[in-house]
Amino acid sequence: MDKLIITGGVPLNGEIRISGAKNAALPILAATLLTGDKVVIGNIPHLHDITTTMELLGRMGVELMVDERMRIEVNAGSIREMFAPYELVKTMRASILVLGPLLARHGRAEVSLPGGCAIGSRPVNLHLQGLAAMGAELRVENGYVHAAAPGRLKGARLNMDMVTVTGTKNLMMAATLAEGRTVIHNAAREPEVSDLANCLISMGACIEGAGTDTIIVEGVKELHGTDYSILPDRIETGTYLVAAAITGGRVKLKSTRPELLGAVLAKLTEAGAEVTQGEDWVMLDTGGRRIKAVDVHTSPYPGFPTDMQAQFTAMNCVSRGTAAITENVFENRFMHVLELRRLGADVRLEGNTAITTGVPRLTGAPVMATDLRASASLVLAGLVAEGETHVERIYHIDRGYETIEEKLSQLGAQIRRVPS
Ligand code: EPU
Repeated sequence: MDKLIITGGVPLNGEIRISGAKNAALPILAATLLTGDKVVIGNIPHLHDITTTMELLGRMGVELMVDERMRIEVNAGSIREMFAPYELVKTMRASILVLGPLLARHGRAEVSLPGGCAIGSRPVNLHLQGLAAMGAELRVENGYVHAAAPGRLKGARLNMDMVTVTGTKNLMMAATLAEGRTVIHNAAREPEVSDLANCLISMGACIEGAGTDTIIVEGVKELHGTDYSILPDRIETGTYLVAAAITGGRVKLKSTRPELLGAVLAKLTEAGAEVTQGEDWVMLDTGGRRIKAVDVHTSPYPGFPTDMQAQFTAMNCVSRGTAAITENVFENRFMHVLELRRLGADVRLEGNTAITTGVPRLTGAPVMATDLRASASLVLAGLVAEGETHVERIYHIDRGYETIEEKLSQLGAQIRRVPS
């Protein structure tokens, strides 16, 4: 297992390119199951979760080809098995995204139920309720969802009790091939939902309202192939902006979409950083000043993303003043707090709120990554800690950040990957 060794204290400076969005690429790969035609997907990030999804599709008999620029050509015409095994689903919960497409196109699926998770219980009851409302027969047995849809799925009015990103994506995909109209009320508005909708539309689906809280899908008989490019990763963008802010640096990020980061950019500005942006780039400059701690409440898009909560907690730990960060999306997403304390942070938890009082500097220590964004926050803290920080179990980072040590090195950070 690899670890990252970071020697902190260097203000980051320079330019890097942002990769394609993990949380758009995963559902779009699942969407290829909705057609027997060839689908080509560009701007795919080179990540462990992508490899897992490709393995999942490959085991079903789907043909996949990747070129050197990470464009993936998928042909699900050769599918043999509508099965997602526990051994893959347990490593990546997003595997549940194959359920809707398999059921919609093939009328059956057997998908392992995702288990517990480091950040919360994360049930999939709303995915299952929605599919049942569309006429699917579902039974959970021996840890697997056994699903069947005799004939086509039927369009339905779906009132989602909670905003769920993957749930909205699964049901929207299922609805594309259902008979009649499906209306998803209280739908997730995340840009990755819209990106999936745009890809489905380019495959012949009839979808309106993606990006709002009401999505209307008019089912069609079949979808066709497409050539689609994934949108840039707003969370990777936000993470590198925090890297610049926390180190007192100046960084320009290219090939991104700053308009998808409204809540994050507003908080960075409130913290005292100067943020400038164009259509496909964003730059953060601290002018060498120590930034100010900011209060944050996470909520579904367009609110402040839970996927940036850990990074802002790390940033507040070394900023001026006291601030409170409240997590409202997941019930247990503060595993990084104890690790940040090992680096000398003054941070305590009160229910679902992390209260920090900034210290002038952290000190390096061995720390352990527990989930993807918690790991990112430890890397960020390591960038400002005196001496060496060893971040262990970085397979979590490799699930969601493409070549993080190369990108940070390019910005001047002293970071290296070693086998531990
Ligand atoms: N929920 C239910 N029942 C359901 C579905 C969700 O109670 O059937 C609850 C969850 O337990 C949670 C809340 O609803 O408390 C929101 O969960 P959501 O379903 O929106 O999360 P997700 O779709 O499982 C995606 C991202 C996460 C991101 C969240 C929130 C993917 C593959 N994952 O998860 O990304 O944090 O939306 O924005 O898209 C990450 O990239 O690090 C990551 C965890």
